[in-house]
Amino acid sequence: MHDETQQLEAFQARIDAGEKIEPKDWMPDNYRRQLIRMISQHAHSEVVGMLPEGNWITRAPSLRRKMILLAKVQDEAGHGLYLYSAAETLGIDRAELIEQLLTGKAKYSNIFNYPTLTWADIGMIGWLVDGAAIVNQTMLAKCHFGPYSRAMIRICKEENFHNKQGYELVATLARGTPQQRRMAQESLNRWWWPTLMMFGPPDDQSPNSAQLMRWKIKLQSNDELRQRFVDRTVAEAKAIDLEIPDPDLRFNEQTGHWEHGPIDWDEFWRVIRGDGPYNHERIRVRREAHERGAWVREAAEAYALKRREKAASAAG
Ligand code: 3HC
Repeated sequence: MHDETQQLEAFQARIDAGEKIEPKDWMPDNYRRQLIRMISQHAHSEVVGMLPEGNWITRAPSLRRKMILLAKVQDEAGHGLYLYSAAETLGIDRAELIEQLLTGKAKYSNIFNYPTLTWADIGMIGWLVDGAAIVNQTMLAKCHFGPYSRAMIRICKEENFHNKQGYELVATLARGTPQQRRMAQESLNRWWWPTLMMFGPPDDQSPNSAQLMRWKIKLQSNDELRQRFVDRTVAEAKAIDLEIPDPDLRFNEQTGHWEHGPIDWDEFWRVIRGDGPYNHERIRVRREAHERGAWVREAAEAYALKRREKAASAAG
C-alpha cells in the first residue's frame, strides 16, 4: 500500500498532467470535502435562485415574457438537480446536503438574498447574474473533476439563453418610455455591486482559491473572473445607454481593462453570514417547500422499496 505522501504526489501528478479525476479514483479527503462544499453550494444557489424569479411569474407583462421566465426557472431547477447529482458522486447523500442548506450550515450565492422589486430586476438577473454565472461556469466546464465539468457543459448552454433573454428584456425597457428607462437604470443601480461580489472575495482574502487552483478546479482567480465580467458588461450597458453606478469606473488604455471602484466587502461578508435583506425569507420559503414536498419523497421511497422487493423476489 503506497504511503499517504506517495498517493498525494501521484494524485497531484495526474492533475498536473491534465487528467480528469473521476469519482471512483483515489482522492485526498480534503479534495472530496472541498468539492462537496463547492458543488453543493452551487446546487443550493440554483434552487434558491428560483425564488426571486418565481416571484414574477404571475406578474409577467405578456404571455411571451411569462413563457420565457417559466422556462428559465425550470432550467434552474434542473441545474440544481445536475449539481446535487455531481455532489452525490463524492459519497454524500442529497438529503444531507439539503439539510445543510435548510439549517443554515451551507451557503448559497450572495446574490439571491436581494429582492426583485420591479420587472426590470428579472431582466437584470438574466443579464447580470446569469452573465456572471456564465463567466464563472465556462471556466468550471474545464475543471479537472469529471462530473462537475460535464454538468457545466449543459448548464452553460442554458445559461446563454438566460443571459440573452435578460439583456433583451433590459434593452427593451432602456429604449422604452421614460418610466421604463428609469426602472431599468434603478434596477441596474441595485444589482451591479452585489453581482460583482458573486465572484467571491478579493484573491488575497480567499481562503479556498489557492488549493482549488492547485487541483485545477479553479482555473482563474476570483478577481480575474470579476474583471472579465466587468469588461464585457460595461460595453453591453453602454450599448443600451444605461449607466454603470460606479463613479470611479474608468478605462485603462495600457491594460485594456475597465477599472472599477471599491466593493463594499463588509456588505458581502454580512450577507453571506446570513444578514442580507432576504436571507431569512429565502430559507423560510425553502423550508416550507421542503415540508410540503415530504409526501412526494415518501411516495418515491415507497415505490423504490417496492421495486427492490419485487426484484429481490424475482431473483429468488
Ligand atoms: N456567495 C456566497 N458565498 C460566497 C460567495 C458568494 N458569491 N463567494 C464566496 N463565498 C464564500 C465561500 O463559499 C467561502 O466560504 P466557505 O469556505 O464557508 O464555503 C468564502 O466565501 C471564501 O470564499 P472563497 O473565494 O475562498 O471560496 P471559493 O474558492 O469557493 O470561491 C466561488 C467562491 C467563486 C463562489 C466558488 O465557490 C465557485 O465558483 N462556485 C461555483 C459557482 C457558484 O456557486 N455560483 C453561484 C451562482 S449560481 C447562479 O448564478 C445560477 C444562475 O443560473 C442564476
